[in-house]
Amino acid sequence: MLSSSFFSISLLGLLSVVSLEVTVTAADKINIVPGKAFDRFITIWLENQDYAKTLVDEAMVDMARQGIQLERYYAQTHPSQPNYIAAVGGDYFGLDHDERVRIPQNVSTVVDLFDTRGISWAGYFEDIPSPGYMGDASDGKTGNDGWDYVRKHNPFVSYDSINKNGSRLLNLLSLADFKRALEQRAVPQFVFISPNMMNDGHNTTLDHATNWSRELMKLILLPEAFDEPTLVMLTFDESEAYNEPNHIGTLLLGSAIPPKLKNTKDATFYTHYSILSTIEYNWDLPNLGRYDVGANIFRWVGEATGYDVAARLRDPTNADTVKNSFSYPGFLNQDESKWLPIPVPNLNLVGSSGKSVAEAVVKNWQSAVDKHTPYDGSGKVQDGEENLPVYKPPGGNREGA
Ligand SMILES: *[C@@H]1O[C@H](CO)[C@@H](O)[C@H](O)[C@H]1NC(C)=O
Ligand SMILES: *[C@@H]1O[C@H](CO)[C@@H](O)[C@H](O)[C@H]1NC(C)=O
Ligand SMILES: *[C@@H]1O[C@H](CO)[C@@H](O)[C@H](O)[C@H]1NC(C)=O
Ligand SMILES: *[C@@H]1O[C@H](CO)[C@@H](O)[C@H](O)[C@H]1NC(C)=O
Repeated sequence: MLSSSFFSISLLGLLSVVSLEVTVTAADKINIVPGKAFDRFITIWLENQDYAKTLVDEAMVDMARQGIQLERYYAQTHPSQPNYIAAVGGDYFGLDHDERVRIPQNVSTVVDLFDTRGISWAGYFEDIPSPGYMGDASDGKTGNDGWDYVRKHNPFVSYDSINKNGSRLLNLLSLADFKRALEQRAVPQFVFISPNMMNDGHNTTLDHATNWSRELMKLILLPEAFDEPTLVMLTFDESEAYNEPNHIGTLLLGSAIPPKLKNTKDATFYTHYSILSTIEYNWDLPNLGRYDVGANIFRWVGEATGYDVAARLRDPTNADTVKNSFSYPGFLNQDESKWLPIPVPNLNLVGSSGKSVAEAVVKNWQSAVDKHTPYDGSGKVQDGEENLPVYKPPGGNREGA
């Protein structure tokens, strides 16, 4: 898609060196696969703030008027990196640190799900030195300092199923590329944005990060920014405090939200896995066979499309003990006594869309299909303390049951 639109742009450039101004809609630039409730999803990730503080932050309060404030959204663990990893792969594989990691090629991500229907996607990372950059951090040639872009806030690049594939790697771009795509009306259907270490609040303050976000929102939320219904999610990777549940502030904004839901609150239980389950439902995608299955989809999406929200959106059975502050054992845990192989996905699971596990996942894991697995589609939350994952023979689930 992109290459053909680049081609036509350069052709136009040859014909008219004076002006490239042509009226184009996104549909001319990128193929739009319609979703049930939205055609585009943009998520912006800020850093390390407690829910209570975001509630009284001026820019957050201001932005909340334009959308839905999620009152019970929990991050997966601490520190930052595992939360990002979880949001695109359906697990954080025991990760308990921010150092460079690699996740084996046989682990699929949301990208494999998008490929089943030709849904375009990109990650935009402020101050990344070049497309598909694999270093730990920027080196001073972009931004102001050596640590403006950091790999730990770019989940895609740590998955070998992405970093060993040139065309996928080339979807890991900079924020300047996002702004260019916005101007050219060629923003992909799934967008993951990490601001740099200043603008995401990591090295600055909540105020700074939310004010910066509000400025970016002014561009994204312009009525004329997109022709297609677009859902925008502003979230934090994790809370600041480790001694309480990992409760974070999250807003749903954008033209896809029904006007009557603007300036409302939603107290449904969510985690970062809700991003995956919502996307799978919206675009009728298969699932990853991991913790994506069983996570609540965003309530408004269900209500707008005839999903049985009363039966299917529920608290996890262990919601009262949610803490999500320390990582459970796993493949990426730095404590050797807590090392475990990558869990086998549960190939029996049916996801929010009613579809089974993606073929790419089945192909990679079929040989291990009988192994015990922690994934049961129940939506229960796991952590490294009270709620350790329980490995069992792979059972089925029936969504909605
Ligand atoms: C952000 O803080 C880290 C230390 O946590 C430091 O190494 C880095 O240089 C800082 N980055 C910027 C852009 O100030
Ligand atoms: C590389 O990525 C492209 C685009 O996602 C996909 O079509 C292709 O199958 C991938 N190749 C391999 C070997 O996984
Ligand atoms: C908010 O951000 C804008 C643009 O980034 C900046 O011009 C303005 O000074 C900021 N305001 C505050 C109160 O920080
Ligand atoms: C997945 O890849 C890992 C790392 O290469 C390997 O140890 C494991 O056996 C693979 N799993 C299967 C089912 O092939």
